[in-house]
Amino acid sequence: MHVWMIGAGYVGLVTGVCFAKLGHDVTCVDTNREKIELLRNGQVPIYEPGLTELLHELLAQARIRFMDNLPAKGDAEVAVIAVGTPPLPNGAADLRAVYAVVDGLSGVLPKGALVAVKSTVPVGTTERIRQRLREQGRDDLLVAMVPEFLREGQALNDVFSPARIVFGVTDNAAEVTLRQLHSGIEAPVIVTDPATAEMIKYASNAFLATKISFINEIANICDRVGADVTVVAHGMGLDPRIGPSFLRAGLGYGGSCFPKDTRALVNIAGEAGYDFQLLRAVVEVNQRQRTLPLHRLREWLGDLAGRTIALLGVAFKPGTDDVRESPALDLYEALRSEGAVARLVDPVVGSVVDSHGLVISVERDPYVTLEGADAAILVTEWSEYLRLDWSRVARAMKHAYIFDGRNALDPVQLQDFGITVSGVGRGAVPLSIPVG
Ligand code: UGA
Repeated sequence: MHVWMIGAGYVGLVTGVCFAKLGHDVTCVDTNREKIELLRNGQVPIYEPGLTELLHELLAQARIRFMDNLPAKGDAEVAVIAVGTPPLPNGAADLRAVYAVVDGLSGVLPKGALVAVKSTVPVGTTERIRQRLREQGRDDLLVAMVPEFLREGQALNDVFSPARIVFGVTDNAAEVTLRQLHSGIEAPVIVTDPATAEMIKYASNAFLATKISFINEIANICDRVGADVTVVAHGMGLDPRIGPSFLRAGLGYGGSCFPKDTRALVNIAGEAGYDFQLLRAVVEVNQRQRTLPLHRLREWLGDLAGRTIALLGVAFKPGTDDVRESPALDLYEALRSEGAVARLVDPVVGSVVDSHGLVISVERDPYVTLEGADAAILVTEWSEYLRLDWSRVARAMKHAYIFDGRNALDPVQLQDFGITVSGVGRGAVPLSIPVG
């Protein structure tokens, strides 16, 4: 099929490349010329395992091309909308980019083509897009909602082997086109109306976020009553009604999806006249969880002014260079506002921009970052930070204290190296040596 992928951001690029691999002829369109130039030259502007290799293969076979504008004449059978829906100040999704694309497509798509919405959009948006196209005289176009469920760092696998595919359609013709577009992917298919498809996406992310905030609250109670949340989560997860995933306590969820989508769903509910109390609490708990290590650091070090704290990991999770809503940035700002010196290190993130718009460079070598530090916080569980040379770490740090924000280190093993490790919900750890 001839497929146009509008928006070469994370979702659009990964999905476009995967559709090309499945045998379709794909044109990726993005208004960011610099990005398009990079992609034409086989350079991927994001870090996603396997994506660069796959892009090179498809460019060599001329199965994918990149353009900074919609083609003037359309050969597309499907145009997939995958542009961003960033949050507005009130938490609602900003749909301006989506509607701009719809208006552009309305002028160029051939008769009977399908407009498939992949951007995460509030319930009712796909129907509004259909009405908008009708008002522009394009009631011949098919419209569908096809939510995406890919995870950064595992995105290729999530496109080729998803847990499910959801088609939100109102007619058979759209379903037929979508089945053809996804042929070659083995997964259960749910065919439903667009509003339900839109809700499946929000409800899935909101539920996963709820699991995380729930286990984080259990962790905070565990700290107070002397229980170990990692064992509690294991014990809970063996019940198939609960399941083991998304029960890792830590510094809360980050990234481009959960924070944005939870707030958007609170907003969608509010606009529909419903107070989504539970989800509001999930969002609040997540915000609070981010600065949890500061309390422990204060217990350990007293006043943090003048202290040097190493933050291990800046990406919001391992396997990505995405720093959107990363706990590391909140911790960096919070430490600085207490007068501490915060050092950042990450294996793939080179720099970040703080809330004042200043570019902060990120160190690559963890041992340099740990040299002379009063304490460290493990923010992102990159595998390289779980296998450090611990005797070197103990020698490098001024005080060998690590707050393990991801419960990924073995406190007993590290104790042998003279390193005190305190995790989330694993009980408060007293200091073994006095702080100077
Ligand atoms: C998430 C969903 O998992 C995808 O299904 C969805 O398609 C995507 O959002 C989206 O809406 O586009 P992603 O943001 O890439 O994917 O990241 P996840 O791997 O789900 O992790 C999200 C956050 O939760 C991370 O900050 C992670 O550290 C945190 N997390 C996850 C925990 O704190 N504990 C856990 O047990 C699991």
